Amino acid sequence: MVSLLENPLRAGLQQDRIPEPQILVIFGASGDLTQRKIVPAIYQMRRERRLPPELTIVGVARREWSHDFFREHLREGVEEFGNGLGFEAIWNDFARGLFYCPGDIDDPEFYKSLKTFLAELDEQRGTQGNRVFYLSVAPRFFGEATEQLGAAGMLDDPDKQRLIIEKPFGKDLSSARVLNRVVQNVCDERQIYRIDHYLGKETVQNLMVFRFANAIFEPLWNRQFVDHVQITVAETVGLEGRAGYYETAGALRDMVQNHIMQLFALTAMEPPNSLDADSIRNEKTKVLQATHLSEITDGDSSMPAAVRGQYSAGWMKGEAVPGYREEEGASPESTMQTFCALKLEIDNWRWKGVPFYMRTGKRMPKKVSEISIHFKEVPFLMFQSAAQQVNRNVLALRIQPDEGISMRFEVKTPGNSLRTRSVDMDFRYDAAFGQANTDAYARLIVDCMLADQTLFTRGDEVEASWRLLTPLLEAWDPPADPKTIPMYEAGTWGPLEAEFLLNKDGRRWRRL
Ligand code: BG6
Repeated sequence: MVSLLENPLRAGLQQDRIPEPQILVIFGASGDLTQRKIVPAIYQMRRERRLPPELTIVGVARREWSHDFFREHLREGVEEFGNGLGFEAIWNDFARGLFYCPGDIDDPEFYKSLKTFLAELDEQRGTQGNRVFYLSVAPRFFGEATEQLGAAGMLDDPDKQRLIIEKPFGKDLSSARVLNRVVQNVCDERQIYRIDHYLGKETVQNLMVFRFANAIFEPLWNRQFVDHVQITVAETVGLEGRAGYYETAGALRDMVQNHIMQLFALTAMEPPNSLDADSIRNEKTKVLQATHLSEITDGDSSMPAAVRGQYSAGWMKGEAVPGYREEEGASPESTMQTFCALKLEIDNWRWKGVPFYMRTGKRMPKKVSEISIHFKEVPFLMFQSAAQQVNRNVLALRIQPDEGISMRFEVKTPGNSLRTRSVDMDFRYDAAFGQANTDAYARLIVDCMLADQTLFTRGDEVEASWRLLTPLLEAWDPPADPKTIPMYEAGTWGPLEAEFLLNKDGRRWRRL
């Protein structure tokens, strides 16, 4: 039998190929993402010779910057947020491929001049008509920019022209559907790359390898052996000056609908037939479609088994930090959730009856993302005297930081009496491989240039994830009385209600 890792279709999980000469056109290039993430990541890839020397970047935004100003701005970004410039000559060579084109996203004339400019660059830089258009703009412009690019004939060739769309893709099921319709009207699904940077993380990609390249875990990965699963994505940061966006998004739209749902889908999906993009995306979509929010019934009424919360002032690493409502730009009456916890159930043969609990929040005590599989208790305990101390086995997949995997099991403590204790068998990426992780953005942009969609979300997959969260959006979107939103102090693990969500089921959150 050919293993998945030997399969020629494994292109989706490898990255030895170098993309063809390209022009990357970044819409919204004066924004933070370009300076802090996208360009430092691309520069690093270029330094490692994983991108062709002809690579050309064209920044598009409203501000009237010159090419030189743009280059200087990006240079500062690489120095401050990237791994440094390295040799000056390498930067100079890279900078020769950086250009800036001021323009209005809704002005058809601008697209005509952009098209002409890109054609000139093809001549000058040898980029052969290959283009990636990266929409790093406010979500309300996603549809408009795509339609304008289409109308100007810049997305006509599915083999050479691709579109990257940043998150959030819609703000609920109906807006995601409308956006899907707009972009799918202009391009083929194979030209559309909906980005979720969690999929670019090494540890997230490893989820599939861990599950499907090892014979010993998959037989246990089901309702017969698993009691429940927990997914935690905790952050220490607060609002970070993003009130304009966050006040309309909240933790549910910002983290759950995309990143956490991706972690969930990769953990719960069935093995795909191969590692090509569509086989994997079919399985992720299937499991999302089979999943629903658990409900709590109280007499005749029922509501989603979910908890929201908002951080109040508190302490982080010995420093006083303001509450969400005191953050710059946030409404003093805001009811936006900065924390949420929920319980999902899957209606399929593998997982029926196994709850998946997830939580995410800002201003938590630690930055940590982890998936933990909690196995069932042993069916019969012989060690009566030690009964109190026997814990369940837990397999923890640490997404970040301290990337790794650990398995908790019981051992006898040395000595005459029969006592047991939990110990961990630990694998750490840094110990095994050093710190050579590729930046998630770099990985995803290069995959797009290679026309590999494996690590991007498909239209039906995004819709399935919005559909799943619709009952919560309906419950949480209407304006609420600010006094009714559960609060948690900054620097704690969320509101008490989140503990009850698990306690009710006789479980508790794993201590991280
Ligand atoms: C982004 C969210 O998508 O992910 C941010 O908009 C969040 O609010 C960030 O802080 C977390 O990403 P990471 O890679 O630091 O876990």
